[in-house]
Amino acid sequence: MMTKNQKLIDWVNHWAAICQPDSVYWCDGSQQENDRLLQELVDKGVAVKLNEKLRPGSYYFQSDPSDVARVENRTFICSKTKEAAGPTNNWADPDEMRATMTKLYTGCMKGRTMYVIPFSMGPLGSKIAHIGVEISDSAYVVANMRIMTRMGKEVLDLLGENGEFIPCIHSVGYPLAPGQQDVKWPCAPIEQKYITHFPDTYEIWSYGSGYGGNALLGKKCFALRIASVMARDQGWLAEHMLILGITNPKGEKKYISAAFPSACGKTNLAMLIPTISGWKVETVGDDIAWMKYGEDGRLYAINPEAGFFGVAPMTSLETNRNAMLSARANSIFTNVGLTPDGDIWWEGIGYDAPQGTIDWQGNVFDPKSGNPCAHPNARFTAPAGQCPSIDPDWENPAGVPISAILFGGRRPSTVPLVHESFSWNHGVFMGSIVGSEVTAAAIGLKAGVRRDPFAMLPFCGYNMGDYFGHWIKVGARSTEGKLPKIFFVNWFRKKDGKWLWPGYSENSRVLAYIFDRCNNADIAVDSPIGKLPKPGAINVEGLNVSSEDMTAALAVCPDEWREEVRGVEEYYAQFGPHLPGEIAAELAALKARLG
Ligand code: GTP
Ligand code: SPV
Ligand code: MN
Repeated sequence: MMTKNQKLIDWVNHWAAICQPDSVYWCDGSQQENDRLLQELVDKGVAVKLNEKLRPGSYYFQSDPSDVARVENRTFICSKTKEAAGPTNNWADPDEMRATMTKLYTGCMKGRTMYVIPFSMGPLGSKIAHIGVEISDSAYVVANMRIMTRMGKEVLDLLGENGEFIPCIHSVGYPLAPGQQDVKWPCAPIEQKYITHFPDTYEIWSYGSGYGGNALLGKKCFALRIASVMARDQGWLAEHMLILGITNPKGEKKYISAAFPSACGKTNLAMLIPTISGWKVETVGDDIAWMKYGEDGRLYAINPEAGFFGVAPMTSLETNRNAMLSARANSIFTNVGLTPDGDIWWEGIGYDAPQGTIDWQGNVFDPKSGNPCAHPNARFTAPAGQCPSIDPDWENPAGVPISAILFGGRRPSTVPLVHESFSWNHGVFMGSIVGSEVTAAAIGLKAGVRRDPFAMLPFCGYNMGDYFGHWIKVGARSTEGKLPKIFFVNWFRKKDGKWLWPGYSENSRVLAYIFDRCNNADIAVDSPIGKLPKPGAINVEGLNVSSEDMTAALAVCPDEWREEVRGVEEYYAQFGPHLPGEIAAELAALKARLG
């Protein structure tokens, strides 16, 4: 035992008695421990060690075909009342859920080791950081948590005898009878998967999945669902946002955060290499931001994570060089292809798959078959410290001051490349109407555009209407001018089935426009939906886009927006009295401006 924290010891003993593992192991987070646990997985045939020359310290995993992404219909917010969870969350009675899951947990770790994983979200000891402890029967989870969080002995030291932690319990839900052979990727069938949150007691119970956001409980479960509740209670913001630093040719630097739904470009934007000369982008975080006021009345953001759990397909030295280089070593690859020389491959990596590459399901990849080599939600887990564009202040415990907040999603029509809110409340309204074509980041969603307010639809731990209200309240505590400006961007508008805007590095042109707007440059013009760039305000020098397409990318079509307003009205109806008056007023004002 490495701790004298009695509460932690009691909690671990409590769960060991229920789960009945063969042994309990306290993780120290060391390199030796990591190497040993991964070697055990290699010896069992569960992991492949990648070629040490090509991809040092890195490992390859294939999940069960049923366990490839988050499961939103098996994700629950178990507040005391259904109303507190709100209409956009799956609610279940907390007592009933505890009974159901305790039954599942009983004996669920037979034949396995129970790992105790102490972790910090945010730099160790930072005032804005929070500690969690995850119990898990998956060594894959241990190895991933070591990359994604600050994990191990130092966290226990920090916790001391009386420190508080968020308890996170996880099992893959696949006990082994004596002598029973393990499988490559143990997990439970879909109807036995539960990703459960108890917001009233800040607890997380997860059962039956080994994948990403279902199992690495520091990430979506803690840093967003539980942290959004903590943030509401304590007056800050826990958001599904990247954080980047951007420096103009004069050497002036600003920080921008951006909320896009899952698989809509956060990692790519956070690490982009500008195509316009003299500009530089640096990375603070690629998925989650915790934001609090500094003494100067500005919002400061920290990235609570320590690694990237990034979408692999389409990542290349061309599209996202910094992500590729982050994952050059000491990384974990899940559900990508495996080449005969022991490296990884996926669609859009920038070169053809070598003969004999194995696909994510273990079959020889045949490019002519039409089956992808990597699962569309295949991921790399890479240490943030290895990112060439990492910002010098990425671990600053005080955070970085935010000048602009961006919202966006995959919108094939209606939404222009960029527009800006008239005010904070109008910006909150813009966040509340975010929508996106659904992606492969979650299992079982109907294709098409769905509303995903603030990119938080699957991640808000309480009533979404109240969450809008919290944003209004947070804004009211400062003043316009000190508050970040709010923008809406859309890299995904289409004409004749093709993207109008080249995206990726070229998004730097939009960032530069936003940067200049933060200095109040006179380059915007009012429209019914917000401020648009004046003609020519976006630098298109050297850009391979016709002026006709550029006009189409920036166009605001009142008919499309009237249709949008109807959709929003319908969507808002479900919130009833929880919809803040300020938001209803913004919708009415937009309607009036559209005429
Ligand atoms: P999560 O990790 O699920 O939260 O995703 P994310 O928001 O970080 O998305 P990511 O940057 O990983 O991008 C997801 C997919 O969108 C990848 O296949 C990217 O190649 C693609 N993508 C990212 N940026 C752009 C862009 O500007 N234009 C286009 N067309 N595709 C993009
Ligand atoms: C997302 O789906 O938004 C992710 C991946 O960042 S996961 O960690 O699986 O939630
Ligand atoms: Mn995400």
